[in-house]
Amino acid sequence: MQRTEICDLFAHPKDFSDIQLTLAGWLRTLRHSKSIGFLELSDGSCFDTLQVVCNENTLPDFKKLMKLGSGSAIIVRGTLTLTPDARQPFELQATKIEIEGTSPSDYPLQKKHHSLEYLREIAHLRPRTNTLSAVFRIRSAAAFAIHHFFHDRGFYYIHTPIITSSDAEGAGEMFRLTTLDFSDPPHTKNGAVDFSRDFFGLPVSLTVSGQLEGECMAMAMGKTYTFGPTFRAEDSNTARHAAEFWMVEPEIAFADLNDDRQLAQDMMQSVLRAVMNECPKELDFLNQYIDKDLITRLTHVVNAEFSCIDYTEAVSLLEKNNDHFTYPVSWGIDLQTEHERFLTEEICKGPVFVVNYPKAIKAFYMRQNDDGKTVAAMDMLVPGIGEIIGGSQREEREDILRARMRELGMQSANYQWYLDLRRFGSAKHSGFGLGFERLIMYLTGIKNIRDVLPFPRTAGNARF
Ligand code: 4AD
Ligand code: MG
Repeated sequence: MQRTEICDLFAHPKDFSDIQLTLAGWLRTLRHSKSIGFLELSDGSCFDTLQVVCNENTLPDFKKLMKLGSGSAIIVRGTLTLTPDARQPFELQATKIEIEGTSPSDYPLQKKHHSLEYLREIAHLRPRTNTLSAVFRIRSAAAFAIHHFFHDRGFYYIHTPIITSSDAEGAGEMFRLTTLDFSDPPHTKNGAVDFSRDFFGLPVSLTVSGQLEGECMAMAMGKTYTFGPTFRAEDSNTARHAAEFWMVEPEIAFADLNDDRQLAQDMMQSVLRAVMNECPKELDFLNQYIDKDLITRLTHVVNAEFSCIDYTEAVSLLEKNNDHFTYPVSWGIDLQTEHERFLTEEICKGPVFVVNYPKAIKAFYMRQNDDGKTVAAMDMLVPGIGEIIGGSQREEREDILRARMRELGMQSANYQWYLDLRRFGSAKHSGFGLGFERLIMYLTGIKNIRDVLPFPRTAGNARF
């Protein structure tokens, strides 16, 4: 079917005026008197809707059409009239409307305010709302902007596995995957489940990060990034954790922590700029209904230099405010969301990198600093969210990495390939992981991760 999309009308209205057009979409609202009716049509191509004017004298089946329910799918033919003095810049004078699919009166999205919590219960329909469609359009624009940024800088886009036998973060928060019969698995002589008889011949899980394989690729191709789904069986039921989320993980050879930090800042600013350029209407809407400071904040961050602070210094600043916190701060603790947010919102008043964390609270692969206590780690914290990026310089010295893995009780035999990178042409290298949903929360002002994923998977919820 040859049809025009609403986004084209808004982009070049004059090109379409006074010619016969066909549009297709879903009815948002309908109001009418005896002889004239106004339909608000959405086709999903952009944030805007089209006003369709129905006239009893020129539109066949006028009476029947005026009974259409919200949510109905229709195909409209008519001509576009520019209306420079009206609220909307043009309207379509309908000459024919075909009904593709009606929508009865129990359609759950009636013209009134629905809470985000209610909309989660109808995740299959919520992309039809202004808020969620704005979020998902921004999500699309941000994903594209990320690819664009790395492509422009000569990074290779690589694909790391989703099924893996290694725990990249060493935190044990993995979803097991098996084809063994749970009710009657094979056993070894000493009574353990015999994974040698499982599909892959060893225990496997869904990946928590593509980093380890990403390092292998970067140590051959120089600058790479992976961008894919990531899974964590974290038992935390919070507004910023999902069991299935997307992560962007660049990795750069011959780069130290400062290079890594610069890349993270450049990427963030580039993506923010691209989304502000591409989605002004979505951002205006979200600024009005979700977060009144959104545009001011994004505009500021696009041009600002991000702060950088040592973990040790951050702790001493936070300790002075311990009476604000549920969990008091002291050197050695992993910062909680409340501490991260205080640091970025109250102390730094903007995005901040915290660097050089204690080694005991960070993953095995991070490069040990000369003080023997800290590692070359960096987290980027942003207002409203806390941690949005986690990264580090990687331990490139084989003996130190082996010793650390031994200390942590890891089976180095399973990571021989990873250790090999340290034997054959080892070099300093660094990378980070950006939580894509946290980025979308930041870009939209949405406070719950469940509202930036089309079909969120969180503890206790895998519906749809
Ligand atoms: O800090 P994390 O655990 O770092 C890594 O996985 C490294 N291997 C990345 C790397 O260096 N290549 O996770 C990175 C980011 C976090 O900063 C956070 O934004 C996001 O991933 N993240 C989550 N997002 C949503 N739900 C969860 N459960 C998340 N866990 C981490
Ligand atoms: Mg982290």
